[in-house]
Amino acid sequence: MRMVDLIEKKRDGKELTTEEIQFIIKGYTDGSIPDYQMSALTMAVYFQGMTERERADLTLAMAESGDQIDLSKIEGIKVDKHSTGGVGDTTTLVLGPLVASVGVPVAKMSGRGLGHTGGTIDKLESVPGFHAEIDNQEFIDLVNKNKIAVIAQSGNLTPADKKLYALRDVTATVDSIPLIASSIMSKKIAAGADCIVLDVKTGAGAFMKTLEDSRELARAMVRIGNNVGRKTMAVISDMSQPLGLAIGNALEVKEAIDTLKGEGPEDLTELCLTLGSHIVLLAKKANSLTEARQMLEKAIEDCSALESLKRFLSSQGGDASVVDDPSKLPQAKYTFELEAKEDGFVSEIVADEVGTAAMLLGAGRTTKESSIDLAVGLVLRKKIGDHVKKGESLVTIHSNFENINEIKEKLYVNIKITPEIMNPPKLIHEVITE
Ligand code: URA
Ligand code: CA
Repeated sequence: MRMVDLIEKKRDGKELTTEEIQFIIKGYTDGSIPDYQMSALTMAVYFQGMTERERADLTLAMAESGDQIDLSKIEGIKVDKHSTGGVGDTTTLVLGPLVASVGVPVAKMSGRGLGHTGGTIDKLESVPGFHAEIDNQEFIDLVNKNKIAVIAQSGNLTPADKKLYALRDVTATVDSIPLIASSIMSKKIAAGADCIVLDVKTGAGAFMKTLEDSRELARAMVRIGNNVGRKTMAVISDMSQPLGLAIGNALEVKEAIDTLKGEGPEDLTELCLTLGSHIVLLAKKANSLTEARQMLEKAIEDCSALESLKRFLSSQGGDASVVDDPSKLPQAKYTFELEAKEDGFVSEIVADEVGTAAMLLGAGRTTKESSIDLAVGLVLRKKIGDHVKKGESLVTIHSNFENINEIKEKLYVNIKITPEIMNPPKLIHEVITE
C-alpha cells in the first residue's frame, strides 16, 4: 500500500477501506507516513468528507493507537460523559457524585485544562490534599467501593489523535465534522466506557456556533459510538452565555457543592438533571427518564449526593470538610464588583470573552507549562434576561491583583444591557439518540 495512492483516492471522492484507514493511522503514529502526506489527506477529507463506515474505522484505528483502559473489573455499566467545551462548565463536578449516589459507577479519566479555566483535575485540586495520581488498581478498587473515582489521564492515550489534532491545527483542517467526531470519540472509546453521553454545546461560547453545526456534530458522534458498539446519545445544550454563575477553579467547586445541596444555579441544575437522567437510564439503574430524574432529585434532597462527594474527595486525599465549609477552599485576596452603568436587561454575555477575562485573572493556562491560580475567577450576578439597575453588581471579580482595570473593561464590553425586555436563551435544544 502506498500513501500517495490513498491520498489520490480520497481526493477523488472515493471510500477508503478499513485496511487502508488502519494503514494510514498506524503509519502516521509510527512516523513512517510523514506530516506532509497526512496534511494532504486531511485536506482531502475536509473537502470530500467520510462515509459513516470510514468514520467508525478511523475512530477505532485511533482508539487502538495507544493504551486502552480496561474497566471490565468494575461492576455495572460504565457510562462516560463528555462535553464539547464551553465556559464555566461545572457539570462534571456535579454529575459524578450525583449519579454515583444512585449506584452508577463513575470511572472518570480526566486531564488538566488549557484555556479559560483548569480541567476537572485542576478544579478538584483546589480541595486541599486531593490528588488524582493514583494507579489503575487503586482507581478500580475505589470505583467499586465508592462508585466514583477520578484518575489523571494516562500519557499514552490515543497518540494518533494527539499527533493528528496538532497537525490539523496548523493546516486549517480542524473544522471537519468527520475529523472532529472521530477525534473526540476515539478518546472516549480508549477510556473504556460502555455507554457515552455527549453534551454538545451550541452558541457563541461553543466550538460549534450554530444549532445546525452542533446537530451535525452530535449526530456524527452518536452514529460512530453506536456503530462501534458503545451505546451513545447526545444532548445539545446552550453555550450562548456561560453555564451557571462561577468561572474559576475553586469557585466552580463551590458552585458544584451548592448544586449538590439543591442550591445551585437553575441552568446548571437543570442540565445536570437532564444529562444525569440519561446516564442513569443507560446504566440501567432506572426504567424511564422520569424515574431516573426522580432518583436524582431525591439524592439531592436527602443529601446522599453530597455524601457521595465527601466520600469521593476524602478517598483521594482531599479534605472533605470543605463541603460543609467552602471557605476552606482557596480564597482570592480581593473581591470587586462590576457595577452596571445603566438600567435595563442583560442581553448578551459573550461566553468566550468572559472566559478569557477569568483566564487573565490567572484561572486558566495560556500555555501547557503555565501555572494557574485556583482561587481567582468570576461569579456572575446576572444572566441573560435579568433586570439590572444602575450601580447593581453584574459580576463579582475574585482577584489576587489589585489593579484589574483591563479586566473590568473587557467585561463591560462583553456584558451588554438593553432597555428592551429579553428572554433567557433556551437551555436544552435537542436530544439525539438515533
Ligand atoms: N476536540 C477534539 O478533541 N478534537 C477535535 O478535533 C476538535 C475538538
Ligand atoms: Ca459554572
